[in-house]
Amino acid sequence: MNEYAEFFELGFDVLMHPLFIRQNNYFQHNTTTLFEHSILVAYIAYLVGSKLGLDTQSIVRGALLHDFFLYDWHTEGKKVKKPIHKKHGFKHAKYAYENASFYFTINQKEKDIITKHMFPLNIKPPIYYESWLVNFVDDYVTFSEYFKNNKNKYNNLIEYIYAKLKTS
Ligand SMILES: [Fe+2]
Ligand SMILES: [Fe+2]
Repeated sequence: MNEYAEFFELGFDVLMHPLFIRQNNYFQHNTTTLFEHSILVAYIAYLVGSKLGLDTQSIVRGALLHDFFLYDWHTEGKKVKKPIHKKHGFKHAKYAYENASFYFTINQKEKDIITKHMFPLNIKPPIYYESWLVNFVDDYVTFSEYFKNNKNKYNNLIEYIYAKLKTS
């Protein structure tokens, strides 16, 4: 099985979920949507994780759901008293876990990946290698989205996912 196919299979139930797909309506960094950002983080972490012999199932599911907070953090702030974009960095890992565990069955490792991905902004450090990996890959992908335009590098992956979603 090739890497795209294995990745899709590991994240199948999350990738197919309508709320996950809805994240394509929210921009995360620059022109990258939250849907694309989550897939990129999960895919890169999956590639590194399989080289290191880590638990790729938890890596893919945890990373796909690491930003599953389900609002547009750029605009929501204007509607509430305390601007959400100011506290977003501190709170969204908790919101993501609340949503993830409501809609999916989440294991301990996946929980750690989601809730600790903003360390050191959230003070509790990750306890699994898998969580550290997703934490680093998220920073790397975020940095690339802001400062380099290497989105095209992953166009084939995103197109593969779209095609699978249409036919699954
Ligand atoms: Fe995040
Ligand atoms: Fe992220």
